[in-house]
Amino acid sequence: MRRALDSLQPPLMMTFPSPSSWMIRHMGAEGLRLERKYAVLIREEQRLGRLVSYVGNKEVPLLRLYRYKEAFAFRLVEELIARFGIGRPEDCVLDPFCGMGTTLLAAALRGIPAIGIDRLPVAVFIAQTLPLFFQIQPGEIRAAYGKLKRMLPRVPPAEIAEDVEIMKVAFPENTLQALRRWKAAIEALEPPLREIYRLLFFAILEPCSYTAKDGQFLRLRRSKKLASPDDALLAKVMEAEEDVLRIRALRWELREPSLWTAILGDTRNLHSISFPCAPTALITSPPYANRYDYTRTYSLELCFHFVRDFSELRALRHSLLRSHIEARLDPSEKAPHPAVQETVDFLKEQKASLNNPRIPEMLTAYFVDMRKAIQEWGRVLVPGARAAIVVDNVRFAGRLLPVDLILCEMSEEEGFQVEEILVARYKGNSSQQMGRYGRIPVRESILIWRKRP
Ligand SMILES: C[S@@+](CC[C@H](N)C(=O)[O-])C[C@H]1O[C@@H](n2cnc3c(N)ncnc32)[C@H](O)[C@@H]1O
Repeated sequence: MRRALDSLQPPLMMTFPSPSSWMIRHMGAEGLRLERKYAVLIREEQRLGRLVSYVGNKEVPLLRLYRYKEAFAFRLVEELIARFGIGRPEDCVLDPFCGMGTTLLAAALRGIPAIGIDRLPVAVFIAQTLPLFFQIQPGEIRAAYGKLKRMLPRVPPAEIAEDVEIMKVAFPENTLQALRRWKAAIEALEPPLREIYRLLFFAILEPCSYTAKDGQFLRLRRSKKLASPDDALLAKVMEAEEDVLRIRALRWELREPSLWTAILGDTRNLHSISFPCAPTALITSPPYANRYDYTRTYSLELCFHFVRDFSELRALRHSLLRSHIEARLDPSEKAPHPAVQETVDFLKEQKASLNNPRIPEMLTAYFVDMRKAIQEWGRVLVPGARAAIVVDNVRFAGRLLPVDLILCEMSEEEGFQVEEILVARYKGNSSQQMGRYGRIPVRESILIWRKRP
C-alpha cells in the first residue's frame, strides 16, 4: 500500500500550482475554482505526513496508554507551537475537538495554558485524566492492583448498557463477567487512582474483545486471539508505572493544574463555556467527512461507563458533529458553500452507485456544522490569533471534494485570513472507489489561518 501511494505522488507534484488533468476529471466547477484560487497557498510538506496520525504517540509517555486512533501526533503540536511562536505570557491554546488531549499535553508541558473541548465523554474523560498521572508516586498504581484483584469475588458486577447489540457479541460471557467485576472494583477506589484505573480499564476493552477499531468502524473479528482481563490490566498497569517513571526522567511537569482544562462541550456553540483565558491560538483536527461515527468506534467504553442504554447512546450519536451516515438533516438546512451544493447535486444523481444513499445529507450536515464551529472560533479567538486545522479531503462516487479549501473559504467569511495550506500527505481512497473510479490521491492538509485584527 505504501508503495502504491508513493507512486501517486510525483505526477501530482509536477502539476502544481494549477489544477491537474485528473482534478479536472474528478471535480466540479466550484471545486476547480477553489483549486485555482488557493493554488499559490498550497505547499507540500510531506515530512508532516507521519505527524498527522496517532502512530507517533505509541512512543510518547501517557498518550500511549490509550489508543485514541483519531489523535494526531504530540510532535505535530510541538512543531505548530514552535512555528506559531506561542509561549508569551498572554498565550493560551484552544483545541475545540481535543479528543484525548494531545494538544493539551504538548502545550501544558511548555507552561502554556490550554483548553480542550470535546463532545465525546470518553475522549474528555481521557483528556481530564492524563494530568492526574503527574500526581502519582512510583509504585502507587501497581500497589492498587493486588487490592483490586482481591475485591473481585466480593463485588457485584458493574451495570453496563446491556441492550446495545455490540455488547451482546463483543466478549465471551466469562470475559464480560470478569470485566464487569473489575469495573465495579475500580469504582470503589478513591480519586485519582480511580480515574487512572478507569482509563487503563478502557484501554483493555478492545484487546479483551472480538472487536477491532478499524477505519471508520468497530469490526467484529471472531477469529481474534483474546487477552484475559487480569493479564491485560496488569500489563497496562506496568506500562503506566513505567510512564510515571519516564515523565520524571524527562522532567515533564505541570507547573499548575490550571494550565490544563478539558471540557465536555460542543464546539458548534461555545456560549456556555467559560474560558479561563482568551485563546491566542487554535490547534485542532475535526472529525473527517468520511462517515466516521465515534459512538460506534468507542461503543464498548461508552457502554461500560457513559451511557445507560441504547437510547442514550443514540442521543449521544446525534449530538456529535454530523460526520456520520445517521446524521439527520433538517429540511431548512442548505449546503453552506457552492462546492458542497454542486457535489451534493452530483451525488444525488449518482445515488445508485453510492455505497450509502445518505451520503449527500451527511455532507450537507457536515459543512453546516463546520460552518457553525468556524463561526464560534472566529468569535472566541483574540484578533491576530493563529489557527492550525488538520483535515482530510474525501471522494464519493469518484467525485473529489476539497474539504480543506471549502473550510478555508468559509473561514474567510468568518473573519480569518488563509495563510497556507500544507499538504501533509496524500492518501489513497477506499479500495472500492479505486476499483471503480481509478486511483487518485486525496490530500490530508494542515490549514493555517490567522484571525484578522
Ligand atoms: C480527529 S478527532 C480529534 C483528536 C485529537 N486531535 C487528539 O489528538 O486526540 C475529532 C474529535 O472531535 C470530537 N467531536 C465530534 N463532534 C464534536 C462537537 N460537536 N464538538 C466538539 N467535539 C466534537 C470527536 O469526539 C473527536 O474526539
